[in-house]
Amino acid sequence: METNTSIPEDLKLAVLERIKPTEAERKKLTAVQEELAEKVRAASEKLCVPDIFVKMVGSAARGTWLSGTHDIDVFISFPEETPRRELEIRGMKIAREVAKHAEYAEDRHAEHPYLNIIYKGFDVDLVPCFRVASACQLKSAVDRTPFHNEFVKARIKGHEDEVLLMKQFMRGGGVYGSELRTQGFSGYLTELLIIYYGSFENSVKAASSWKPGKKIDIMQHSEMEHTEPLVIVDPTDPRRNVAAALSLNKFCMFIDHCREFLKNPELKFFFPASPLPLEDREILEKLEIRKSSQFAIVFETPDVVDDVLYPQLYKMEQAAASLLNEYDFSVIKTGVWSGKPETVIMLELISGTLPNVKKRIGPPVWVREHAEKFKAKYEGAENVFGGYIEDGKYVYEIRRKYPTAKGLLEELLVNSSLGKQVHQSVSEGFEVVENAEICRLKDPDFRVFLRKWV
Ligand code: CTP
Ligand code: MG
Repeated sequence: METNTSIPEDLKLAVLERIKPTEAERKKLTAVQEELAEKVRAASEKLCVPDIFVKMVGSAARGTWLSGTHDIDVFISFPEETPRRELEIRGMKIAREVAKHAEYAEDRHAEHPYLNIIYKGFDVDLVPCFRVASACQLKSAVDRTPFHNEFVKARIKGHEDEVLLMKQFMRGGGVYGSELRTQGFSGYLTELLIIYYGSFENSVKAASSWKPGKKIDIMQHSEMEHTEPLVIVDPTDPRRNVAAALSLNKFCMFIDHCREFLKNPELKFFFPASPLPLEDREILEKLEIRKSSQFAIVFETPDVVDDVLYPQLYKMEQAAASLLNEYDFSVIKTGVWSGKPETVIMLELISGTLPNVKKRIGPPVWVREHAEKFKAKYEGAENVFGGYIEDGKYVYEIRRKYPTAKGLLEELLVNSSLGKQVHQSVSEGFEVVENAEICRLKDPDFRVFLRKWV
């Protein structure tokens, strides 16, 4: 039984060798964290905002960051009774003061504003938050983070390598990251898995037989009903599911990744080979072999952050598929690729063309009033090929309004339900590129997407 096999020690070591920060890297990170804390304190003194605390949170503060990922989360915590407006103004003032020493700074917005800076090559978030008594009393979503930090720090010592293995394994499976683009597993979630199951190996074995509805409640403090595929009750707040952002597909991709890995534990599950861009010649070959119809809806990428963009792109993907289905086209699959300057919604159809004739089925002949009305409408009308009775019903063969998918999309796509910025961009112009014409789209990253597509 595969559940009894264990993961070779030397494989874990080989992975860790590539992902575990070196002593020098650690020292550098700690030094930069200390510098930043000092800068925040100095800024608060200079601006006469005395009662703040500086807190380092996130994986950098817990020893669970992957080598080469250089993000530092600095929380500036204000007394709980601080008015929200005050916290935003003073928090951002302090952050901007710190940013004077940075290479780059950018205002960002979650539930309230924060500042993202590049400081000595590190990607740093300076986030104002409320110092609440417990995570359940949060005033803003970010207020939980310092509690996550305490919870994990108190339990992860000695298991950091297991977290690193899990993060890299999830990256290898394409399921790491809880942003709306990925809808996968967050860093905090991997830490909770390791705390709960004790090790990377135990987690992978357990996850191999997960089913939707799986619930893990480390503190045993939630009775809540959930509908999400995976429920990891936040140990610091019984009302929150840490896995709320995880989609059913990513949940299942992870289960599959675990099973395949246990059958054959190899390095490639952590570091998959990166696929090469699909060449023109290969595109033409694939089209020839598949004999389906490929469509690329191409438009300018709206200038918004990924967390706004991707939900709108996924919505558009759905909208295009329902439009096509509604007009009798059979959709095989849909996909989204977004780059700069262009975004592509890909659609594969059984066929991009339908016959001009379309069958319109009416009421049974004996439902006299309706049947007669139906007959009167179609009998001898323009664009009607003819009629007959089938299974007791009137049937007319009429001329199809949209015999090509391209024509349908060009005509009706803008009217379908689209998100704000995507709608705006699509309204300004889009193109439907069909089959071999796709060779026109040259972006190498799009061509990598195409290789996985076909
Ligand atoms: N956080 C959260 N929920 C999210 C994202 C973040 O609660 N969906 C909190 C967590 O407490 C997390 C912290 O914000 O530890 C920092 O977020 P992030 O940098 O995204 O995650 P890390 O845990 O630092 O993991 P990584 O190694 O990927 O940076
Ligand atoms: Mg982080």
